[in-house]
Amino acid sequence: MAVLEILVYPDERLRQDSLPVESFDAALQQRIENLEDTRLAGPGAVGIAAPQVGWFERVLIIDVSGRKKTTSHGRLVLVNPEITEWDGYAMGREGCLSVPDYTGNVVRAERIHLDAFDAGGKPLGFDMEGFEARAIQHELDHLDGLLFLDRLVSRRQDLFRRKVYKES
Ligand code: NI
Repeated sequence: MAVLEILVYPDERLRQDSLPVESFDAALQQRIENLEDTRLAGPGAVGIAAPQVGWFERVLIIDVSGRKKTTSHGRLVLVNPEITEWDGYAMGREGCLSVPDYTGNVVRAERIHLDAFDAGGKPLGFDMEGFEARAIQHELDHLDGLLFLDRLVSRRQDLFRRKVYKES
């Protein structure tokens, strides 16, 4: 078990583009395990993306199954994820392990289709909606060097300070 350090805004490394995973080898499995250990050690994070621990490859983990009134595919390890369809728009509150002191209101697609690979290289496809679709869009942004802060229409109106971390 290895809990890794989380990069925190304004760390410039969070701005890097991450590269596609090319080999589904034992090293990948080990890094995924460390990423999951880090997610679980944090305060209730529904998702984590590899660049948040300084690993600049296109890997993320989400699990929104603990949230009420949310459709969910359970815990997903997603390698080289790609959104291929977007539908609808909704505003919702987001938090991030890399922005621990704030939450923000962000507009995201309500429904998406996601293509990805699992940790073993098997192709996956999902139709997702609601908070799960939102979580995917948030984590995928990390792979492109973006934070939810970049998606706020207005920092004055859409950014909220918090005292105790709890993933929204
Ligand atoms: Ni985040």
